[in-house]
This record gives sequence, C-alpha cells and structure tokens, in this order.
Amino acid sequence: MRDSNNVRQSIASVFAWLCWLMCSSPSTAEDFKYRQAESDKAMVATGHALATDTAVRVLEAGGNAVDAALSAVLTLGVVDGYNSGIGGGCFILIRTPSGEFHAIDGREMASRHATPKMYYQDGSVNTRLSKTGPLASGVPGAVSAYATAAQLCGQLPWNQLFQDAIRHAQEGFTIDEGYALKLQSKARQLKKYAGSRDVYFNADGKPWRSGDRLVQADLARTLAGIAKEGADFFYRGPTATAISAWMQANGGMLDREDFASYAARLRVPVLSRYRGYEIVGFPPPSSGGVHIAQILNTLEAFDLGSVYQQSSVDYVHLVTEALKLAFADRAYWLGDPEFAEVPPGLVDTSYGKKLAEQISIEKVSPVLSHGTPAVTSTDRFDRHTTHVAVADSEGYWVALTATINTWFGSKVVVPGTGVLLNNEMDDFSISPGVPNAFGLVGSKANQVEAKKRPLSSMSPTIVLQDGRPVFSLGAAGGPRIISSVLLAISRIIDLDMTPYDAIALPRFHHQWSPDFLYLEKSAAAVLRQGLETKGHQIRELSSAGVAQMIFRDPLTGIFTGIYDPRINGKASGPVRSP
Ligand code: DON
Repeated sequence: MRDSNNVRQSIASVFAWLCWLMCSSPSTAEDFKYRQAESDKAMVATGHALATDTAVRVLEAGGNAVDAALSAVLTLGVVDGYNSGIGGGCFILIRTPSGEFHAIDGREMASRHATPKMYYQDGSVNTRLSKTGPLASGVPGAVSAYATAAQLCGQLPWNQLFQDAIRHAQEGFTIDEGYALKLQSKARQLKKYAGSRDVYFNADGKPWRSGDRLVQADLARTLAGIAKEGADFFYRGPTATAISAWMQANGGMLDREDFASYAARLRVPVLSRYRGYEIVGFPPPSSGGVHIAQILNTLEAFDLGSVYQQSSVDYVHLVTEALKLAFADRAYWLGDPEFAEVPPGLVDTSYGKKLAEQISIEKVSPVLSHGTPAVTSTDRFDRHTTHVAVADSEGYWVALTATINTWFGSKVVVPGTGVLLNNEMDDFSISPGVPNAFGLVGSKANQVEAKKRPLSSMSPTIVLQDGRPVFSLGAAGGPRIISSVLLAISRIIDLDMTPYDAIALPRFHHQWSPDFLYLEKSAAAVLRQGLETKGHQIRELSSAGVAQMIFRDPLTGIFTGIYDPRINGKASGPVRSP
C-alpha cells in the first residue's frame, strides 16, 4: 500500500504483472465474487462454510469476534477434524477494543515422561513413532486456550459457543470430496486403531466417502461435557481418564497428571515495524512472529516496490534469500522459551540490516549456517492448521490458528471420547539433522524434553497503522505458513496488491534446508528460468499454504474477508447496514 496513485510505469513491470495474473487461475472475476465478502459490522473468514456460518450466527446473537472465532474453531474441529480439533493445539492472537493484545499459547506439551531419546529404537531413530500412534501426541492445548480466550474477552455464555459443534457431531454432516480424499489417503493408518475405525469407517470396513454422513456421537458427548462443566471435564475429568487409560494400555506416555498440569500460557506478542506499519506476531513457541519480523527487517533494506516493477524474478529472489537466512536461524535458535534461550536480537532491526548485507540481487548466496544476532539486554519477547480470522466493529480482532499437525494427526481416536489426538511431537527435532514431516531440521533448542512445547510455524498476525488494525491473517501449511503470511504482508505493503490477490496469487517458499526454492506451479511457468539463472534450485509445489485474511478499509471502515482459493472455505459477515 505505497502511494495509492502509484502508476506502474515500466513495460517490464506490466508484462510481469500480466503474466503473474494470467498464470494464477484462482484470480478470476467469478472467484473474486465468491471468495471474499464485505460487511460494515463484522467479518469472518475460515476454511469451512459450516464454521463461518456458525461464527456469523454467534455474531448475530450478540457475540463479539472472540465468541465467534471460538465457536467457529469448535465447529471446524467437528467438520474439518483432520486439520484441527480439541485433540490438538492452537495459538490465539486477540486485539481488544482498547488496543491491548493477548497472545494465548495453546500449544501441545510433551508428557512429563518424555525424553530426548524417546524415538530411538536399537540405537537409531524411528521417525514413524513421532508421526503415528501413542507416542506421537502431546497434551492437547486447544480446550485450555479456548477457555482462556473466553474468560478474557468472551461476551456470550461458554456453553452457547458449543451449540453448532455439538449438533454437527451428533446429527452428522455430509462429507465432501476433499474430506473423503484425505480420509482415503490416511485410511491404512487410521484402520489400525479401534476408535478411529469406529468413526471413519462404515459397517463394511470402508472409509466413508463423499456424500456420506459422518456422525461423531462420542465427540458430541465430550463437547457437551466441556460445554457444561468447562475445561476441567477435559483436563481433570472423564476425557483425561479415558485418554490416559488408553495410553497405558497401548504403550503411550500421556497420563492424568500430564493433563491436570496443562494450562494455556499468556505470552507477550512480538512487536515490530515495517515501512510505517506495526506488525503484531506470535512469540515462541511459535517461530512465526520472530521470523516474520526478522524477514521484514531484512527486506526493509530493499525498495521492493520498485524492484518488483522492474522484475518479478528479482522480487522473488530477494524474498527467498531473506527466507533462507531466517530459516537457518530457526533451525538453530528456536524452541520453547521455557527451555531454550531464544535470542531477542533476532528481531532487532540492526540484525535485519546485517543480514540484508549478505544478500546479492544478482545471484544466490549460500547460507551455510545460522547467524549470530547481537546480545541485547532488552528482551523484546518479554515486551510484548487452520486459520480463523474474525473482526468486529467493536474493535476486537482475532487471529486464531489451530492444528492437530498433519492430516488426522496421530490417527488415534481414543475410544469413548471421539477425540482425535494430534501428532505434534513430530514438530520437535526428534534427532539432530533428522527432518520432520515438513522437512524441517532443528537443534538442541527444539529437542524433545519433558513438559516442553514443540516449535511451531503457526503465525497468527495482526497489522496496524497508527494503532488501528488494517488487516489480520494466518495460514496452514507447516513452514509454508511463514512464507504465506510474509508474502501477503509484503504484497499489500510493498506491491500495493489487493488483499484478495495478496492471498490468491501464486506463492513461493524456501526453508533453508533442503536448499530448494519451491514455486507454485503457475508461478514456476513464468519465473523458473530467471530464478535458475540466479542459481536457485527450483522445485514445483502443487499448493503452498492456505491463508485467511480480514482487511478493513481505513477510510470506509468496511471489512473484507478473504479465504484462500486453494480450499473451499467461506468468508461472510452479518448483513450490511442499509
Ligand atoms: O505448528 C506447526 O508448525 C505445524 N504443526 C503446523 C501444521 C500444518 O500447518 C499442517 N499443514 N500442512
């Protein structure tokens, strides 16, 4: 959003822009009509129509954006349960009408019995154990985080937030093609567990198909218990008892004490500035807020708007080089702040400037290892996979990213509870140099330890100008969350793109290791050659992360909600005033 009267002068830039647009199928007028919504009252954008409808109903019943976001994520846990749910975790970033921020860390926590070598068998690491089965799960943090958010900012009674989720679980909902395909792809692993067989397979032992109705009666009962008795039903009551009994019988570690000792934590957000905007990001154990701030600090040294006008290849190259430097730092420095000393200097502007000096616009610069941020005495952190975005005209903004990690998490539904457990333990570095499901490597800072929270890339983010929120966003997609959020911010601020294009146009990603620049297919068609000439090794991605955004026009106050055209989500708000 540079000078809005900016004329795009050079022929090269117009050509690049047209190529980019033509190659990005989601950005058609037809899509535009359906994939974004406007309202002057409030706005919701989620990855599923039923969840958005829930949130709009809650807003219309007098709830605020926090109530709406919580009800939406509860519904998502039922109708989009392969992505998130009460068996998983989340980060919730809330901006209140008085301008305060709450960063609620509902990240899973390793069992008190966990050890750095827990995935070693006969001297070598077994990478399957952190992904599937009883050892893959941490204590789910979602319910505690939802309760914390409701206590801090909710307006409606807690049990009202659960109504739709319970109904969808009890009465069932129709499985769509996307759900059925994911279920099919994970059926072999899900079938190993009795509780999962009961939920996801029909009487003939076949996974439910598109058009079938999925009823989750046990999950409905668990949700109803939490709605009535609060989070204790989950952490100290029947749910904790059932999960620890199952763990004990199946070689897992989580026990009642692990559940009883879990509490969501209030963290201090990462605050940074980028070309006059204030960026509020999520602090460790998320790596998102730190690295988005770090990358923006690095990129501030370049006039990206002009660079892009001259050459979209140069733009992609510069952002990629900044991503590489940040992800090299991520692999070394980042971990649960209770266990690892994450250097506050990572988000210092002086460190960003130093990193920028290592970047050449001409060609790839090898990044052999992490950098060394200055030791600073001011602790910036202390000042401070599905994404739900909600904002209301009272002034609440909620950016909530929730996950059970990879599709269907650990693949274990605990019998009698309906709870599908996460496989978030795989987000730890289970052994030095051994990549996780997303190809990420890590160090001691993110090794497994008892009661530690695994490092995350989830990046709920709110962007303000002069203290007023302009847009909020977040994404799913493992490490691609960081590049998706970063790119949307840069596209709006540096390239003056519409919020819809900032989300919809093809993305790219680099995470230092492996040393590949990933391009979404349609971008690869246009940019591959130029980037290869600079020395990048290109790999094609069918789809980068999935992001949702809410934008508020600073002049009219109208909210626009955008969901990612890479999925079938929905953006909607209460009916506009006449
Ligand atoms: O917290 C994280 O970084 C991951 N567990 C997020 C997982 C995710 O986004 C799944 N999407 N591909």
